[in-house]
Amino acid sequence: MGKPRVVVAGRVPAAGVDLLRERYAVEVADQRPREALLERLAGVAAIVTPTAVAVDEELLDSAGDSLKVVANFGVGYDNIDLEAIRRRGLRATNTPDVLNGATAELAVTLMLAAARRVAEGDALVRGGEWRGLQPDQFLGRGLIGATVGIVGFGRIGRRVERLLRGFDVRVLFTDGSESAYDGPAERVALTELLAQSDFVTLHAPLTPETTHLIDAVALAQMKPGAILVNAGRGPLVDTDALIEALRSGRLGAAGLDVYEDEPDVPVQLRELPNTVLLPHIGSATDAARGAMAKLAAANVIAVIEGLEPPSPLV
Ligand code: 8YV
Repeated sequence: MGKPRVVVAGRVPAAGVDLLRERYAVEVADQRPREALLERLAGVAAIVTPTAVAVDEELLDSAGDSLKVVANFGVGYDNIDLEAIRRRGLRATNTPDVLNGATAELAVTLMLAAARRVAEGDALVRGGEWRGLQPDQFLGRGLIGATVGIVGFGRIGRRVERLLRGFDVRVLFTDGSESAYDGPAERVALTELLAQSDFVTLHAPLTPETTHLIDAVALAQMKPGAILVNAGRGPLVDTDALIEALRSGRLGAAGLDVYEDEPDVPVQLRELPNTVLLPHIGSATDAARGAMAKLAAANVIAVIEGLEPPSPLV
């Protein structure tokens, strides 16, 4: 019998792929087009999936009976049909913790960039249009001393709170899991968080309950001129309602790293001056992505070798 086959979908860092190559027959496949990816899955023992790959019955069928584990390259796992994994007696894993710092600091980056109008100023200078300093130009808002609402107070949300301590902010949070917390941030209801926060940053997992958590009603409850940051998952926010709130000036600005229908970003969002738009790079530091790759590889190796994986979902 030959070595077990492993397909790595997408350009996952070598730090992890090399660990797999030492043991298995590894193929790196493009994640898109999906049909081409599916064609390469027959007979694999493991698949490493970036979170843009939907792991559903169709994908699992394409792999067939040889499949043992789907190792998500990411902490979010809304792309995986966990029930289908369970039904088939497979394992699924993710990459928690190693990206907390990178993702949290990107959320803080978006808060600052949106508040201080970094993208608008950059575009002006880059376009050769700057005519010199003006005392009233690009007046923004400060993060120092503001009230920040963190929606979803898990590993990444808590890391955001710790990063913000030097900014002397008041932190409010909501947390679906009601897990224990003993720190300076205040647990409040979502409506109170929305009403009081100058900045709202989203770190809840995407589930049926959290889809469009920030809809027209929630946006109307936000403090006039507040700033919304989303470095979690696009569908947490109703994009049409967000565009309307940004257009009307009800919201001051938005900093977004994720979108409802990636990689499509509505033109209305792109045309608005009060948005900072990034291409889903929350965990994109060398260190975090390398650590994610190693953890995904460790998960694959453990399952193929008959051991318990370090970060199992199922
Ligand atoms: C991933 C992410 O890097 O971890 C997650 O859930 O969204 C990102 O960190 C990205 O999805 C690539 O798989």
